[in-house]
Amino acid sequence: MLEARTRDYVEHRIRAGVLEHGTARLLEDSGVGGRMRAEGLVHHGIELRFEGQAHRVPLTELSGGRSIVVYGQQEVVKDLVAARLGAGGEVRFEAECVGVDAPELGKASIRYRAGGEERLLECDVVAGCDGFHGACRASAPPGAFREVEHTHPFGWLGVLAAVPPSTEELIYCRHERGFALHSLRSPELSRLYLQVDPDERTERWPDERIWEELRRRFATEDGWTLAEGPVLEKSITAMKSFVAEPMRSGALFLAGDSAHIVPPTGAKGMNLAVADVRTLAAALLEWYRSGDEQLLDDYSATCLRRVWAAQEFSTYMTRMLHPLPGDDFGSRIALAQLRQAAALGAASTHLAERYVDLCSV
Ligand code: DHB
Repeated sequence: MLEARTRDYVEHRIRAGVLEHGTARLLEDSGVGGRMRAEGLVHHGIELRFEGQAHRVPLTELSGGRSIVVYGQQEVVKDLVAARLGAGGEVRFEAECVGVDAPELGKASIRYRAGGEERLLECDVVAGCDGFHGACRASAPPGAFREVEHTHPFGWLGVLAAVPPSTEELIYCRHERGFALHSLRSPELSRLYLQVDPDERTERWPDERIWEELRRRFATEDGWTLAEGPVLEKSITAMKSFVAEPMRSGALFLAGDSAHIVPPTGAKGMNLAVADVRTLAAALLEWYRSGDEQLLDDYSATCLRRVWAAQEFSTYMTRMLHPLPGDDFGSRIALAQLRQAAALGAASTHLAERYVDLCSV
């Protein structure tokens, strides 16, 4: 396993934070769920907030008893690194992949830079888990992947704040000034997001402006209040949908963001990446055990069905919750969708099922 960054960087970089039911179960079943069980926050509902009113969607009730776990991606990374090293495995940090050659199963190699030198790692297969900008997808022969892309015309300003969350459950809020999301990481740490222009820069958002904007967007008619505190970290996330098809070229198997990006609304990115790896691991086990390539041959199609289901859900959530300037028609449609999602009928059930457990299929 080659990791471009330092161990400290990957274990502390703030990323996503919502584990679906199936993702949490997989960590448990893989023997790496101990800390998640102790420190993760199990949630049974989310709030949809629009037109100044709060509407709870009881996820667990609507999804046959399933729930989500709020547990930071960097915590999952810590647990996985510890398990790998604890099992005597090797993780080479600060080893940056610069090229992959993987013409067929059993014949692959990775060129990487470490300690100022270029080195070669020979291997049977390559799992390309190096993200959207990584070298794996870029190294495949021309035409290996068809790329399907959609850009959403806004970004998210994400904030980690040292203040107890003002809510017990995540709040997804549509406001005419833009979307806002109240999430959390622990009883002392809040995670908040604001819809901003796609080319926005964090320097233009001093803490006071952030809190002022959050207060305005989250305001309700019944006087809900937002607790404020020191901002520990700010970053801007672009909103992109992207899929590379198929997710395989020879002995190179793309997994996670190297193969697909979803807009963050609905928190599917990390769950999709975990699900890719679950599918790939089972296929590799079968191949090593019996020589049967069928599951490896099915890898891309199996994953892409799930990826497109996640694209659909993430696009639904994104469009329903983010206003576009001047798009009155789109706003009316989005409010009609929100009313249905809040009405505790079929639309709520459909939302809840996809929110808690879309990637385990
Ligand atoms: C978080 C991120 C999301 O994209 C989301 O939909 C919910 C929560 C988070 O970082 O906590």
